[in-house]
Amino acid sequence: MTLTAGFFGSDYWTDPLMVGDRERERAAVVAATLPDGLPVWVITRFDDARAALDDPRLSKDSAALVKAIQHQLEAAGYGDRNPSGMFGPHVLFSDPPRHTRLRKLLMYAFTTKRVKALEPVFRNMTADLVANLPLHEEVDLISQVAVPLPLAVICELLGVPADAREPLRPLVDAINLNDPATAPAASDQLVGFFTDLIEHKRRKPGDDLVSALIHVDDGQPDKLADDELLGTLFLLLNAGHDTTANLIGNTLRALLQDRRYRWRLVHEHPELIPNVVDEVLRYDSPVRMATHRVVAEPVEYGGITLLPGEIVLISLHSANRDPRQFGEHAAQLDLHRDRHDLRHLGFGYGLHRCLGATLGRMEAEVTIETFARAFPRAVLLDQAELRRRRSPIMNGWDRLPTLLDV
Ligand code: HEM
Repeated sequence: MTLTAGFFGSDYWTDPLMVGDRERERAAVVAATLPDGLPVWVITRFDDARAALDDPRLSKDSAALVKAIQHQLEAAGYGDRNPSGMFGPHVLFSDPPRHTRLRKLLMYAFTTKRVKALEPVFRNMTADLVANLPLHEEVDLISQVAVPLPLAVICELLGVPADAREPLRPLVDAINLNDPATAPAASDQLVGFFTDLIEHKRRKPGDDLVSALIHVDDGQPDKLADDELLGTLFLLLNAGHDTTANLIGNTLRALLQDRRYRWRLVHEHPELIPNVVDEVLRYDSPVRMATHRVVAEPVEYGGITLLPGEIVLISLHSANRDPRQFGEHAAQLDLHRDRHDLRHLGFGYGLHRCLGATLGRMEAEVTIETFARAFPRAVLLDQAELRRRRSPIMNGWDRLPTLLDV
């Protein structure tokens, strides 16, 4: 593989969108090296990205991925790294038929009705938060708004008792940062926490997703095995929390960056908010890269034959800003862009398309609506100093210091 200064190179951490745009125009498929040393291929253009997201020759089977990653890391001289923690036995890291089975079981418990019931709960949480935030003092919209709200929702959904939620935050952060010094211990603690939660819900089922997943076999021939149940809870906590926090943070930042026009527009026209959130999902996608896939049989993308055992990432933000699909102004935020023309890949595509899209959208829409209504004169501070989070997969801001004003 040829080396590139593009993806995961030094300027990727300061301006990932610019690097993604540049790499996409350079080639449809580029070689890159992840910070942990793993060599990968990155697919950059919309048509290829959409095809790859739904290509059965690109496997997401957890065992096959772990084996291939270990092999690639060894070949690159990093033999001692163990990637297995990330790739649990759950729906995101499975191929059919296991994927079909796990997705069906998850959908059986994760019903539209359950998601709908969360909206009034979420509106109350957001209203409480707004009522308790100080005016005219610096508030960080990431750590005080974008992160705690989705964590509270996912805990509500899973049935995590209120007093057990706060200690989960540092654990989730440590796992997401994937720091070899802290992530394994955090991961062990979270396994312990979920094991206890499952035990508790077995004895005393409630009206929550964990209880529903335990009892999902009611009248069904199938059932989640213990490790699959644990893996699913891990996935839901991570997939449902970090992603949504980024969507809320990226949308707040995009709007407050231009408070005279954009923030005012959503204050005066809240009916535009669903459109705005979708446009941010496209323009500043909360998930930069779709998760790892391993080539199961030779497959050609962008004129390059990818070989079995090689790892593929799909750059959602490059694909979502591809002028071939979204026109010459694809790299600009257009709050009036018609969402029905969008067909962006912010929630993935095909077999592994996000199961929480409705929930994530609802959380972002309600947060923006509540904040724009409550604080029409909010001001984002230190704009030139703002930093992106240093994550290869997730796309968010470290902090958004803001003065709230009514
Ligand atoms: C899958 C994005 C919120 C649960 C995905 C994928 C993306 C994504 C891009 C596909 C990954 C791939 O193909 O490698 C997002 C974004 C969200 C969000 C941008 C924020 C708004 C949520 C929420 C939940 C959730 C709130 C659940 C509570 C899942 C699950 C999958 C998934 C279970 C795996 C589906 C499968 O493999 O069949 N998400 N997600 N997501 N997401 Fe989300």
